[in-house]
Amino acid sequence: MSTETLKPNPFAMSLHVTVLGAGTMGQGIAQVAAQRGHTTRLFDVIEGQAVAAVKAIGVQLEKLLSKGAINGEQRHQAMNRLSAALVARDACSGTDILIEAIPEDMHLKLAVLTPLLDALSPHALVGTNTSSLSVTELGTRLGIPERTVGLHFFNPAPVMDLVEVVRGLETSDASVVRAVEFARGLGKTPIVVRDVPGFATSRLGVILGVEAMRMLETGVASAEDIDRGMELGYRHPMGPLKLTDLVGLDVRLAILDHLTKEIGPQFRPPPLLRSMVRAGRLGKKAGEGFYRWVDGHPVAK
Ligand code: CAA
Repeated sequence: MSTETLKPNPFAMSLHVTVLGAGTMGQGIAQVAAQRGHTTRLFDVIEGQAVAAVKAIGVQLEKLLSKGAINGEQRHQAMNRLSAALVARDACSGTDILIEAIPEDMHLKLAVLTPLLDALSPHALVGTNTSSLSVTELGTRLGIPERTVGLHFFNPAPVMDLVEVVRGLETSDASVVRAVEFARGLGKTPIVVRDVPGFATSRLGVILGVEAMRMLETGVASAEDIDRGMELGYRHPMGPLKLTDLVGLDVRLAILDHLTKEIGPQFRPPPLLRSMVRAGRLGKKAGEGFYRWVDGHPVAK
């Protein structure tokens, strides 16, 4: 984490933040929110997942402490602001901003969010961390289109500077302003984009990944050399296959299926990706994808 993100925050205002979904993204978003002074509750439908994510955040903060990036008091305060909720409705009451980081499936997002709407106060902003699904559709089907906005974070959320604020067709100006201010308050740089499939980032990002997979399938080079090409030749911090491992092959497959439907065949997922997902080779979180992951580091296969 850069020291920049640890400076006093001019946009700081302590809010109640609820994060639904305690996977990689939900955990990272909750960490940032708690570190930035917000009372943060984390919930996951999988029993034990939110508790495990809070523990994992504790480990991340210990690492930051041992590097001198934060002090003991900051670690202590961040952990004090953070809790795992065992009941979703409890996590929602009194919240100012709810962020859903549920897998990329509209039905699933609706199934989790709809029963919680009456537990939310009428002023609560509903942010979705979707990478590609329609914010307009989510807001409309929830019946709160003016308060629904895309809050798209990037993995690893504690490190990456960007938040894509996605304005649905009926998202109000006030909601966009709140989302932008919230992102700035987290030390992030927001960009406001229109609600089109894949927004401004995923649409470009996945096309590199999908082409790299096609190159691997057709034997152009090894996974490691395809990545090395982009790392050394284009100065990308991480090649497209390594990045797919970091993001999760299942996440990328869901985005590609959606964009194929919405935009066209240039996004059609390669058979290799689908079979790797079926085999459970989901990338870093599973210990294996295009690389084997040992102690958090990729090892060529
Ligand atoms: N959580 C918290 N901090 C982390 C972290 C994590 N998971 N992973 C790395 N870091 C921190 C490290 O602690 C380190 O901090 P310091 O500089 O303070 O020591 C810093 O990040 C750099 O890490 P490393 O030195 O271990 O490794 P690196 O220099 O290779 O950087 C990286 C790692 C930040 C992940 C870098 O490789 C990178 O930027 N990769 C590209 C990431 C990217 O493109 N993300 C977007 C994916 S697309 C997406 O998320 C959107 C979507 O919708 C799917």
